[in-house]
Amino acid sequence: MTQNNLHGGQFSMPNEIRAVIFDLDGVLVDTAVFHFQAWKRLANSLGFDFTRKQNEQLKGVSRSRSLELILTWGNVHKTQEEQEQLAKQKNDWYLALINDMQPGDTLPGAVEVLTYLRANHYKIALGSASKNARLILKNTGIVHFFDAVVDGNAVQRSKPDPEVFLKGALALAVPADKCVVVEDSQAGIDAARAAGMQVVGLGSIDDLTGADYLISSVKELLSDQ
Ligand code: BG6
Ligand code: MG
Repeated sequence: MTQNNLHGGQFSMPNEIRAVIFDLDGVLVDTAVFHFQAWKRLANSLGFDFTRKQNEQLKGVSRSRSLELILTWGNVHKTQEEQEQLAKQKNDWYLALINDMQPGDTLPGAVEVLTYLRANHYKIALGSASKNARLILKNTGIVHFFDAVVDGNAVQRSKPDPEVFLKGALALAVPADKCVVVEDSQAGIDAARAAGMQVVGLGSIDDLTGADYLISSVKELLSDQ
């Protein structure tokens, strides 16, 4: 497929596509700021700082791997057991933030895109690294749109491994080459490509490589209507 929208063209759903698999954080909901606040609080409690730029590098990265990276950046060594405690502490702080999410706390166009896809008989799955994905889908009132939810609890291997998307396609009973993935992280784009799926990258050409299409907001998925 050509990157025909990279120079201002509009996204148009390829004819062969039967299913759309969405990443969650950064695609449907703006949770990066909550991850940032919780990780920063954890880093500060350990005596070092954590920047927004570092937070950017954790997009699509699992909780345990994110903690490993943060401890490396802070030059702090912790045992496996201590790391589990720290990951739990961060998640408790994160949960306190996402518990307040409610219907409407979705990114612009997300609900319209999901509504359009359902009305046009596309299958819809979630393919997220987050173990909190179901809670976020429920709190924001969009869980009913999904035919399948594959989250961080359902996979053995994190993105860029294709497992999360292959499981999504299997649950939808749609072949990989008839699925398109919508992703905002490089790890997620790499995972989708490894799964043999088409990829719509959400972000800028400066940050993301390998996507078949690039858009700057999920609502651009509707631009062919
Ligand atoms: C991804 C986020 O979707 O989920 C990452 O982009 C996050 O930043 C990962 O670390 C795991 O999330 P959770 O909710 O299981 O800690
Ligand atoms: Mg994401």
